[in-house]
Order: sequence, then C-alpha cells, then structure tokens
Amino acid sequence: MSKVTVIGAGNVGATCANVLAFNEVADEVVMLDVKEGVSEGKAMDMMQTAQLLGFDSTLVGCTNDYAKTANSDVIVITSGIPRKPGMTREELIGVNAGIVKSVAESALKYSPNAIVVVISNPMDTMTYLALKSLGLPKNRIIGMGGALDSSRFKYYLSQALGCNANEVEGMVIGGHGDTTMIPLARLATYKGIPVTQLLSKEKLEEVVKATMVGGATLTGLLGTSAWYAPGAAGALVVESIIHNQKKMIPCSVALEGEYGESDICIGVPVILGKNGIEKVVSLELNAEEKELFAKSAAAVRGTNAVLKEINVL
Ligand code: 2OP
Repeated sequence: MSKVTVIGAGNVGATCANVLAFNEVADEVVMLDVKEGVSEGKAMDMMQTAQLLGFDSTLVGCTNDYAKTANSDVIVITSGIPRKPGMTREELIGVNAGIVKSVAESALKYSPNAIVVVISNPMDTMTYLALKSLGLPKNRIIGMGGALDSSRFKYYLSQALGCNANEVEGMVIGGHGDTTMIPLARLATYKGIPVTQLLSKEKLEEVVKATMVGGATLTGLLGTSAWYAPGAAGALVVESIIHNQKKMIPCSVALEGEYGESDICIGVPVILGKNGIEKVVSLELNAEEKELFAKSAAAVRGTNAVLKEINVL
C-alpha cells in the first residue's frame, strides 16, 4: 500500500492532496493541519468527489494527529504562511522556519523512512533547513520549486508561441525567487525545435521575465500566493517518486560540488524515483548561465544565513 502525507491543508496542501487522489498516485493520502476540523472537512469534501470523478484513492484528514500519518512513503510539507501582495518569499522565513522544522520532525517520528518534499517558502532555504536538521540522507530531501517554475515557463512560452503547452519543453534552474530563478531559454523547445529559432530575442526576454515574477503576478491578482500550479507541481514530484517514473524534474536539492556549489539546496534537474533523488543531472551551462547560477546561489546562501541568525539552525 502506498501512502502520502501532506502537512498543511491550506490552499496549496489541499490542492496537492486533491491532485494526488484524483490521479491515484497513492492508495492513501493523509492531510494534517493545525486548524481543528479543516483537514477532516476537506478530506470528506474530496472523498465525495470520488464517485463523480471515478478515483479509488482514500483521503483522510486529521488535526495534528501525527499517528495517522504513520508509515508514509512521502511527506509533503506545505505548512506556514503564504506571501501577500508586495512580499517576497524570503520575507516569510522568520515565521515559516520554526513551523517547517517542527512539523517535519514530528512527521519523521512516525515515518522514519519517508522521502520529504518541501513546498513551504522560502522554498530553497526551507529545503536546506530540512536537510540540516532532520539528519536524512540527501536523496530524501527535495524542494519542489523548479517543477512549478518550469510549468510557468512552459505556460508563458506556449502563450508567446500560440501553441499547446504540452508540446513545449523547458526548465528553470536556480533559486525559487523572483530574482534568483533562471529560465533556460537556450534549451527550451517546441516539438524539438529550439524556441530561440521561433521567438525573437526581445519576446524570449519577455517570457523569461514573466516566468521569474510568475508567482508575484498571481499574488497580486489573488491577494495571496497561488495554489493550483504549486499543488499540482508538488503532486508531479510525488508521482515520479511513488511510481518510480524516473522523470527529470528541476528541484531544489543538496549539491556537493555539482554546478560548482556545495552546502546549499538549489534548483537543478534531477531524476526522481523510488529512492527520491536518483541522480543530479549536470547540464553544460554557458558562461552567462554559469554566472547567473553563481549569483542565484549567493542569494540563496544569504537567505540560508538567516536560519542561524534566528537560531533555527
Ligand atoms: C509560488 O511561486 C507559492 O512560491 C509559490 O506561487
């Protein structure tokens, strides 16, 4: 039996659980939240869609009862506050670091062999915190940011090309921040055709910029941060792990020399399978991309340093 726990049944966590159940990624999906009744209510509501949508996965909600999460294969962490319009993801660190650390520790007590997927922001720093505080091997700690940013990149590319988003390939590496992410326009393709041959330099620059502030654009529209794509991106990462799909997905992972970086979690393409991170894929970056990556890593490191200042690490 496969089991996934989603900690935090807010917009992102509930969407992730819903996609996991609808796509029958796991036999059982548990949602845990601190707010009395919320995860139970959302689980019941979703279970009442099972016969409408035709899925067989079971959803369970619980208020802070970690025993119900026992023996999960994957634990998804979405806890913490989302950003409001005008806020950066990095500004959330003071509140979210303590929450993420404590929920991850509680969940791991009941599922010592689980793979941990981090969604909470600032995502790269929360992934680094999980890596440093949980004592798990690095293949079992994965931040989902690149999966989301890449889906936004493909959306904006498809809009610019006027084509089906499912026929576009593209990856975003680097940090999951408005100024730190790196949409790799040079490697993006439409049906195998490099997009650099199909879009002008100016148009591609617009696509890259729109991708980088994709989260902020939605936060401005919604008054809080987005949830449909973040939840679905989390589910995509979980699916590749649970079904051992070995998909290549950009995720925030611990680097030990790859891309010239160590002691950091940052977005690079990885192969995801039953062991979590099966492989870090090394891309041949050009000089400009290498420089952007180094700058992105320096910015993520700056945010990581706050963990020590606020005594969470
Ligand atoms: C986003 O980019 C929530 O960080 C997430 O929408």
